[in-house]
This record gives sequence, structure tokens and C-alpha cells, in this order.
Amino acid sequence: MTYVVTQACLKCKYTDCVEVCPVDCFYEGEQMLVIHPEQCIDCSVCVPVCPANAILPDTDEQSAQWLDLNREYADRWPNIRTKKPPLPEAETYKAVTDKMDQFFSPTPGAGG
Ligand code: SF4
Ligand code: F3S
Repeated sequence: MTYVVTQACLKCKYTDCVEVCPVDCFYEGEQMLVIHPEQCIDCSVCVPVCPANAILPDTDEQSAQWLDLNREYADRWPNIRTKKPPLPEAETYKAVTDKMDQFFSPTPGAGG
């Protein structure tokens, strides 16, 4: 089992999650973060701190489609361990659903 970041993170990237993760298993893209499925120890402490409710266990039926994306991009994007300001339009996009088609970008973030 692992936890996964879903599309709710897109255009938000609050990064509260990276501050609480005990194993630093978040990776940063331009528009969202992902979790490395093999590094996550399933502690669940990141779940309640995400303002966008973007993190789900892979046992949740909604998370299935995000597991492959998390696995793929955790190997391609840089590690992020330090909280940074959210994306400028985070509050506007926090409650928007179905952001994947419009906003997903394979471009790496800065990490840090
Ligand atoms: Fe990190 Fe725990 Fe969240 Fe996994 S469940 S990403 S180990 S904080
Ligand atoms: Fe994204 Fe939530 Fe972390 S919006 S960056 S998963 S705190």
C-alpha cells in the first residue's frame, strides 16, 4: 500500500505535505507533487494537512488512476523536502475538480 497525490494538487501545490513526511518521499512537478510509492511508509500524516484534500490511500477507489502517475513522475521529478509558497492561484483552484486534462504538466518543478 502507499498514499498517492491526486489531481486536486494541480494549480495548488500548498506543500504542507512535505513538511510532515518522515521519509521525504515527495517529488515536485511544475503543477503538482507526487509520492514515491516504494518510499512511502503509509503513515498517513500528510493526509489531514493538505488544504486541497489531494492525498488518498491507494486502497481508495478514486486513487487507482493516480498510482501509475505517482510512480512514473517520482522517478522523473526532483525531491522536495521544504515547504514553499503555494502556486499563485491556489485558492481559486482548490475546489476545482477534473483539472488533469487542462493543467497537468510533465515539466519538473524546482525541488528543494
Ligand atoms: Fe510521507 Fe507518510 Fe504521506 Fe507516505 S503517508 S507520503 S510516508 S507523510
Ligand atoms: Fe499538493 Fe496538498 Fe501537498 S495541494 S503540495 S498534496 S499539501
